[in-house]
Amino acid sequence: MSADTWIDVAAAADVPDGDVVAAHVQGREIALVRLGEELHAIDATCTHGSASLCGGFVEEDGSIECPLHQGRFDVRSGRALCAPLTQDLAVHAVRVDDAGRLWVKLAVG
Ligand code: FES
Repeated sequence: MSADTWIDVAAAADVPDGDVVAAHVQGREIALVRLGEELHAIDATCTHGSASLCGGFVEEDGSIECPLHQGRFDVRSGRALCAPLTQDLAVHAVRVDDAGRLWVKLAVG
């Protein structure tokens, strides 16, 4: 399977608003996050200390807080927002099909 393949990862309805759900895609743990009507997929492994963001907290401003040292990433862009983070997260393309399935296309890297 190539990196530009769309992969069916979950029912979109199974990702609750303001919460994070784990998915495993081609050996990577991905965090699925819903912000209202928007769905996002980011790498789940924190770029600081390798904690899983699937145990993190989604904030009302659209960021996710790492459970280990409280670093925050922007869910939409993957941008590292504060110390101790110095490296952004990979963001993956998402789409929802007519059957309500959530598909992810992994970013390269
Ligand atoms: S492991 Fe995530 S902020 Fe340190």
